[in-house]
Amino acid sequence: MRRTLILTKILILYLFIVSVQSKYHSRSLPYDSEEAKVTNLHFVLHETISGSNPTVAMIAQANITNNDNNSSVPFNTVLALDDILNIGPETNSEVIRNAQGLGVLIAETSTTNLLWFWDFGFITGKFNGSFISMFSRNLTTAMVHELSVVGGRGKFRMAKGYAQIQDYIQNDTIIISELNVTVIHY
Ligand SMILES: *[C@@H]1O[C@H](CO)[C@@H](O)[C@H](O)[C@H]1NC(C)=O
Ligand SMILES: *[C@@H]1O[C@H](CO)[C@@H](O)[C@H](O)[C@H]1NC(C)=O
Ligand SMILES: *[C@@H]1O[C@H](CO)[C@@H](O)[C@H](O)[C@H]1NC(C)=O
Ligand SMILES: *[C@@H]1O[C@H](CO)[C@@H](O)[C@H](O)[C@H]1NC(C)=O
Ligand SMILES: *[C@@H]1O[C@H](CO)[C@@H](O)[C@H](O)[C@H]1NC(C)=O
Ligand SMILES: *[C@@H]1O[C@H](CO)[C@@H](O)[C@H](O)[C@H]1NC(C)=O
Ligand SMILES: *[C@@H]1O[C@H](CO)[C@@H](O)[C@H](O)[C@H]1NC(C)=O
Repeated sequence: MRRTLILTKILILYLFIVSVQSKYHSRSLPYDSEEAKVTNLHFVLHETISGSNPTVAMIAQANITNNDNNSSVPFNTVLALDDILNIGPETNSEVIRNAQGLGVLIAETSTTNLLWFWDFGFITGKFNGSFISMFSRNLTTAMVHELSVVGGRGKFRMAKGYAQIQDYIQNDTIIISELNVTVIHY
């Protein structure tokens, strides 16, 4: 009896897999851009550079001798990031969630660029469970940086837009940056 049940299950699973594999279809409909909304978000990013709980870690580095005068983050370095997003610049202000991603330090002629691949997640408010994907270089000489919003998930599906980011505090242990994000989504 049990065996039959298992066999039946396997058969059902098999049929299911087959039906999934053998079906290819597509359908195109007019694209309704009228339904798009624009959302502005404001929050603060907390990045701990050093100490016992850093939110950024170097994961790979090219072995090059001319490394920008022994800078702690020389050219050709890959960083892993898990920064905290808060509503304000105080470390104990309400947590919105985090920004996880990769940063790649690139040498472009004489200036250093940070290339960000960033995924911003939210656990509070109406965007709880939604994410914004950003991808941009951060030219290390500018005061206010712009990041491109290249996509999103959850309520931010099909997102596009931009973010402006500015340092509030930057020292050897912490970078606290303010962000204004403008996102068009559905
Ligand atoms: C780094 O490069 C230098 C100079 O080319 C070489 O002597 C050294 O062995 C390299 N170190 C590693 C860990 O590959
Ligand atoms: C490295 O340091 C030297 C001497 O202090 C300076 O002349 C040079 O411009 C520095 N290079 C970079 C890339 O900062
Ligand atoms: C970088 O550090 C190494 C080892 O400490 C030292 O030999 C070298 O002179 C330093 N280079 C510069 C440009 O400061
Ligand atoms: C956010 O969503 C999660 C999962 O659905 C839920 O457990 C949590 O309570 C929500 N948080 C807020 C503040 O609404
Ligand atoms: C972007 O570059 C600026 C200038 O070097 C720096 O102050 C800022 O902390 C960087 N932004 C981030 C998010 O790392
Ligand atoms: C964010 O917007 C606020 C209010 O308009 C403004 O005061 C602040 O300077 C902006 N910050 C950035 C980094 O754009
Ligand atoms: C960096 O700034 C934070 C926040 O103001 C402060 O708590 C910390 O002591 C500072 N660290 C250094 C090395 O100045």
